[in-house]
Amino acid sequence: MTDVEDDARETTATEQVVTPWDVEGKDGGGIDYDKLVRDFGCSTIDREMIERVERVTGRKAHPFLRRGMFFAHRELDLILDAYERGEKFYLYTGRGPSSESLHLGHLIPFQFTKWLQDAFKVPLVIQLTDDEKFLWKDLSLEECGRLARENAKDIIACGFDPKRTFIFSDVQYMSTPFYKNMMKIAKCVTLNQVKGIFGFTGESNIGQVGFPPTQAAPSFPDCFPHMFGESKTSLRCLIPCAIDQDPYFRMTRDVAPRIGGYKPALIESRFFPALKGESGKMSASDATSAIYVTDTPKEIKTKVNKYAFSGGQLTVEDHRRLGGNLDTDISWKWLNFFLDDDQALAEIGEEYSSGRMLSGEIKAKLIETLVPICQGHQDARAKVTDAMIDEFMSTKPRVFASLFGDMGDVAGALDEATIANTKPGIAIGAPEDTGSVKKEQDKAQTGEDGGQMSKSQQKKLLKEQQIAEKKRAKEAAKAAGQAQ
Ligand code: TRP
Repeated sequence: MTDVEDDARETTATEQVVTPWDVEGKDGGGIDYDKLVRDFGCSTIDREMIERVERVTGRKAHPFLRRGMFFAHRELDLILDAYERGEKFYLYTGRGPSSESLHLGHLIPFQFTKWLQDAFKVPLVIQLTDDEKFLWKDLSLEECGRLARENAKDIIACGFDPKRTFIFSDVQYMSTPFYKNMMKIAKCVTLNQVKGIFGFTGESNIGQVGFPPTQAAPSFPDCFPHMFGESKTSLRCLIPCAIDQDPYFRMTRDVAPRIGGYKPALIESRFFPALKGESGKMSASDATSAIYVTDTPKEIKTKVNKYAFSGGQLTVEDHRRLGGNLDTDISWKWLNFFLDDDQALAEIGEEYSSGRMLSGEIKAKLIETLVPICQGHQDARAKVTDAMIDEFMSTKPRVFASLFGDMGDVAGALDEATIANTKPGIAIGAPEDTGSVKKEQDKAQTGEDGGQMSKSQQKKLLKEQQIAEKKRAKEAAKAAGQAQ
């Protein structure tokens, strides 16, 4: 999620503006998401698609998905089609490390990505754009690098699986394949095009104008040879992000066929509403507009009680008669994100909108919900060691097959010859450049893939595929049962 909200801006835009660095509703009001979807040309996620995600993964959809926080997509259906055919994909998301203190809104994409990783059992790459923040903010490059590592702790604290997850800082990981893709993308895009897509002007510095390929490139798996091998089409890519990041990936999707890659698919979220109300921005410089993941229970209580915009009526009498307004009440909106229990949530909605529950009471519900979330995050973050960050950021070759499905210790099954035969820096057992993972799997089974996979790897892969197949059949049967 971006830190656009960090900027203290006093403009009164007449038209809605949404770029990765600037989010402003029409005349300073709320964001018109329908217009955004129309202007950007993405699609909304409907009930049917949510149900399909549930069917395919065999899990109830995450509250962020079933309650409309992640509400738009590009070609998510293609990812699901491919997944059902047994093709693999990976997740790509990121963060611009511009501040040490994350607020709750910053955690949303990561919590959702964690759910996607668990539900689909897929690998994930996380880009820390220390270069981007250096170019856009008044921060030294060294400070951005330090913040990247600090933010990595918060990200790791969300519970990602180190075996399946690679976190990288742009400045550190500007190694050959990543840079190669950046150059290929850069050559396809003109100055006029980035001016149109991102709103760059003659005043933008040339680092900014040249930055978009850096965020585009990780959409292609060959940026990560130590995880996915050297093929550009070994895997599809799905990007969970806030919708303000869409311009980067619109550009990427345009370029993809020209450099021989798949267009990345997207699953996009709304902006997280600020404590003081939907049209306000959460600002790092205004401590009253956000709840930080580092806040104490007491701070949370004070902030919610004092600043959470209330949809309640001015007097208790009016409130009992007219009820609370769910459309504007921030406690209600935030509960929708953070309270898992559907029934408890429905009850609160009913009680509050009918006037039986008072504003102070719904705030108490929110405080009750947020305290353990922040506390849990703080505990998890405190357990993140330097060694763990290094493990997540390591470019040591990974075993391709172990990035998918139920984690077996595939690495343990490898013989020394296989490891010795693998090119340095390339994932072990990654597919060759065939353009089809399916073909690759067939090859592994028939053993035509001389030298690429050891017998034990092939066996393991075959077993994994059989287990996955059985699981899918079981889930399909279950889904069919539910449908009746
Ligand atoms: N530009 C994003 C930010 O400022 C960080 C980012 C990099 C990102 N790559 C991404 C976000 C991919 C979502 C998906 O926060």
